[in-house]
Amino acid sequence: MRNILIFGATSSMAQACMHLWAQQSDAVNFICVARDSQKLQDQLIDFQIRFPNVEFETYVIDFSCNEALIKCIDAICLRHRQLDQILLAQGSMYNSEESLTAMQLRSMIDVNVSSIAVTLNALYSKLSKQESAQVAVIGSVAGDRGRKANYAYGATKAFVECYVEGLQHRIALENSNVQLCLVKPGPTATAMTMHLTEQGKKLASVEMVAAEIVKGMEQGKRVIYTPKIWKIIMLVIRHIPFFLFKKLDI
Ligand SMILES: NC(=O)c1ccc[n+]([C@@H]2O[C@H](COP(=O)([O-])OP(=O)(O)OC[C@H]3O[C@@H](n4cnc5c(N)ncnc54)[C@H](OP(=O)(O)O)[C@@H]3O)[C@@H](O)[C@H]2O)c1
Repeated sequence: MRNILIFGATSSMAQACMHLWAQQSDAVNFICVARDSQKLQDQLIDFQIRFPNVEFETYVIDFSCNEALIKCIDAICLRHRQLDQILLAQGSMYNSEESLTAMQLRSMIDVNVSSIAVTLNALYSKLSKQESAQVAVIGSVAGDRGRKANYAYGATKAFVECYVEGLQHRIALENSNVQLCLVKPGPTATAMTMHLTEQGKKLASVEMVAAEIVKGMEQGKRVIYTPKIWKIIMLVIRHIPFFLFKKLDI
C-alpha cells in the first residue's frame, strides 16, 4: 500500500493529482490534511464512488497554528513508517492586492510562507530516516519576478522557491534519499482563479497541470514549470531590463 500525504488536500490541483494517483493503482492510502472538514468530506465521498478500493485518512487543522501542524505531522509519522509521496498544495491569493489589508497579508503569509516552512522542516527530519520519499511543493511562476498585479502573493512564492532550493542543497550535501521538487504552475483554472475564468481568461487545465506534477515527481525533477511554456515566458520576463519592464502592464 502506497502512502500519499497531501497538505491542502481540498485544493483543485491536489484533487486532480489524487485522481491520477488513484488511476495508477488502487493500492493507495491518501492521508489528507485540510482546513475545511465539510469540503474535504464532500470531495472524498465523490472520490470513493469513483475509486472504491482507495483508502483515506483525514486530518483537519488550522494551518496558521505551527504547533497544530507539527502535532499533525508527528501523529502521521507515528502511524506510518513509510510516506511515499508528499504534496504541499496549500496556498491563498487575493483577487486585488491594491486594497490588501494588514490582516489579509498576515493570513496569506501564514499559509503560503509559514505553513510551508514549518511543514517542510518537520517532515524532513522524519523523511530523511526513510529509505526514500518524494516531496513536491507548489510554488508559482509569480515568484519569479515582482509585478504590480500580485507582488505580495509573488513574494510569498519567491520565499517558497528559496526555501525549497536551500533544502535541496542540504539534501544533496547530506546524501539524503529524500527527493524534493518545486512545482511552478502558470495560471491554471482552479477554485483560486475562478474570477479569471469568469472574465473569459484562457487558463491551463488543472488536469494537464496535475499530469505534469505527477510525471515530474516520478522523474525526480527538481523544478517543474507547468505548462512547460512558462519556463520560457518567465526566462524572458526575468531578463527584461527594469527601464522597459516598468512600462509594461503585465
Ligand atoms: N491556480 C493557479 O493559477 C495557480 C498558479 C500557481 C500556483 N498556484 C498554487 O497552487 C496551489 C494549489 O492552488 P489551487 O490552484 O489548486 O487553488 P485552490 O483550489 O483554491 O486550493 C488552495 C488550497 O489552499 C487551501 N487554503 C487556502 N487558504 C488557506 C488557509 N488560510 N489555511 C489553510 N489552507 C488554506 C485551500 O483550502 P480550502 O479548500 O479550504 O479553501 C485549498 O486547499 C496553491 O499553493 C497556489 O498558490 C495556483
